[in-house]
Amino acid sequence: MKFFVDTADVAAIKELNDLGMVDGVTTNPSLILKSGRDIAEVTKEICDLVDGPVSAEVVAEKADDMIREGKHLAKIAENITVKVPLTWDGLKACRVLSDEGYMVNVTLCFSAAQALLAAKAGATFISPFIGRLDDINLDGMDLIADIREIYDNYGYETEILAASIRSVSHITDAAKIGADVITAPPSVIKAMANHVLTDKGLAQFNADWAQTGQKIG
Ligand code: G3P
Repeated sequence: MKFFVDTADVAAIKELNDLGMVDGVTTNPSLILKSGRDIAEVTKEICDLVDGPVSAEVVAEKADDMIREGKHLAKIAENITVKVPLTWDGLKACRVLSDEGYMVNVTLCFSAAQALLAAKAGATFISPFIGRLDDINLDGMDLIADIREIYDNYGYETEILAASIRSVSHITDAAKIGADVITAPPSVIKAMANHVLTDKGLAQFNADWAQTGQKIG
């Protein structure tokens, strides 16, 4: 499973990237706002740091404007993936951009029907939003499973990029279903290392070790 980091926080990306945990990055207008940085500047910095795809999102609503913005963003670096919303215009932009060889991430996907359209429009990635479905008492993980089944039925190569990840179990559940990629905030990826029994076991080992009076090295 590929791990993308869902942030425009360069220091946080660097920490995970240094561990070899980062296969790509996703950003969106809200994350750019949160970073307080200029979009071109921060995106370039991220692209210089990370080898894998870095999603940068268009903000236009008409297909022609999305295509223009997407091409502009793609000039930042070779590993830019143009992110477009799952609207009819977004699908048109996806078709044109992917036909011209750009990587395209279709975002704000909330149904299997939308995901099927994105695959047919040539999307490189489809981004179903798990957490936001859970927020309205639907099961985001059911959507991941439905898309996996549909894509496998027909051999679509569009990668399922499970997004709006809020918890460690979102990641492990998406992995069990076979999502190709997860994108998660750095805090959630780091939380994967935590377990109460690890903490308890370590405390016991340290206490017992202290009683031996020994030192290593
Ligand atoms: O990748 C999409 C993600 O940024 C949305 O996450 O937590 O704002 O729903 P969230």
